[in-house]
Amino acid sequence: MSARPSDPVQRFYTDRAQLYDLIATRVPGIGSIRTTAIDHLGLELGETVVEMGCGSGGNLPYLRDRVGSTGRVVGVDFSPGVLSIARDRIHHRGWDNVHVVRADATVPPLEHDRAGGVDAVFSSFVSGMVDDPAAVVEQWIDLLGSGGRIGLLDAARSGDRIGRFANPLFAAAVRASSPPGVRRQSDAIDRLDDRVIAAHERLQRETVDRVFETHVCGFVRVSAGTVR
Ligand SMILES: C[S@@+](CC[C@H](N)C(=O)[O-])C[C@H]1O[C@@H](n2cnc3c(N)ncnc32)[C@H](O)[C@@H]1O
Repeated sequence: MSARPSDPVQRFYTDRAQLYDLIATRVPGIGSIRTTAIDHLGLELGETVVEMGCGSGGNLPYLRDRVGSTGRVVGVDFSPGVLSIARDRIHHRGWDNVHVVRADATVPPLEHDRAGGVDAVFSSFVSGMVDDPAAVVEQWIDLLGSGGRIGLLDAARSGDRIGRFANPLFAAAVRASSPPGVRRQSDAIDRLDDRVIAAHERLQRETVDRVFETHVCGFVRVSAGTVR
């Protein structure tokens, strides 16, 4: 068993791993949002997909379903608590082609070798947590190379005519479910919005056959595209 992490974000997602898993899998509508976002990746049987910041593995069943028993799913996350739940999920389902590794998704431990490697990268609810999301998306794009597919799913404040009335509620929910260091920042929600926008803009800039959609009254953003 690994020691309790000293990094506050990793500690947060380790101490609250069970609770996070409930939210990640049981919030009404979460399954259909994950399905929509993952469908835009256009995965085919036999392909390899890497999920950056996979958490407790809420996306793994959908990714595994798309690549089938001949494909490969690799989840990357730096928090041991949620990774342990993801490993249990993999073991319980008996998947031998789904693996998770503990690593920093901003410097993923994967080869920059498309021929040997990765067909698609997916990440959900992570862009808002990294300091320079545009640079991170750029790195994931480099990892894929031309023809690879990338997809993002994130939540941020809504610009929607109706949804924006619920922005204060959204902000309160984000604060309540964020690590203490984030919760204390007065500009935490502005930062979240800026990071999500930056990540999706970079994806849109670097890809073709792009998709950008909002869901849930504008609170959920989905982007996907094929690297130029
Ligand atoms: C909000 S959760 C999302 C988990 C999962 N993608 C989902 O949709 O349920 C954010 C996850 O990102 C992970 N994370 C944040 N920054 C990371 C980094 N730099 N490297 C690896 N994992 C990271 C956290 O440990 C946490 O599990």
